[in-house]
Amino acid sequence: MSEISLFESHLLCPQVQSLLPAGYTLRALRSNDYERGFLDVLTVLTEVGGHTKQEFTEQFNYLKKHNHEYHTITITEDAKDQVVAVGTIFVERKFVHKNGLVGHIEDIAVNSNQQGKKLGLRIIQALKFIGAQRGCYKVILDCSEKNVPFYEKCGFKQKEIEMAWYV
Ligand code: ACO
Repeated sequence: MSEISLFESHLLCPQVQSLLPAGYTLRALRSNDYERGFLDVLTVLTEVGGHTKQEFTEQFNYLKKHNHEYHTITITEDAKDQVVAVGTIFVERKFVHKNGLVGHIEDIAVNSNQQGKKLGLRIIQALKFIGAQRGCYKVILDCSEKNVPFYEKCGFKQKEIEMAWYV
């Protein structure tokens, strides 16, 4: 079966692509990124779950059906055909701000042997572009204290406090 992209390429910032190191490509998540190590990249972030291909595909198909809300992007290293950096922006519909839209940045990860090449920065710039294209009035995220300087370099300011309740 031919490969499917999560969303259309007009949402991908051309300037971010031009700023990537040679041999790296920015794109939407694809249906065959399971084989390209998409889930392995996420392991630098947290426990991922040991998905089968079918479990990956079920989630991909859900996101595809809701691709006005879910935008997962990747940076791939072309020579190896491997995913090396990933991130998502989820667009939430609200009543406040006159049916306003808020972008939530989630699950940012760069392979440990690829960190420090500005790939994390490019992922965030690309997600901010998608948020702006979708009409979000703000884009927000939660992070650890350790990552605050990184997000400040990406143009974010510290605001409010995160609260969590685990079931
Ligand atoms: N502390 C201080 N500065 C940092 C840090 C840090 N922890 N990480 C990056 N920076 C700086 C870099 O030095 C660089 O600064 P410069 O422009 O002055 O040279 C700038 O931020 C951009 O750095 P990148 O090279 O783009 O960073 P990288 O590609 O390594 O990605 C990331 C950063 C995403 C935090 C990566 O290290 C990573 O995957 N870490 C493990 C997973 C993680 O913590 N993800 C974020 C979770 S929060 C969320 O998902 C919303």
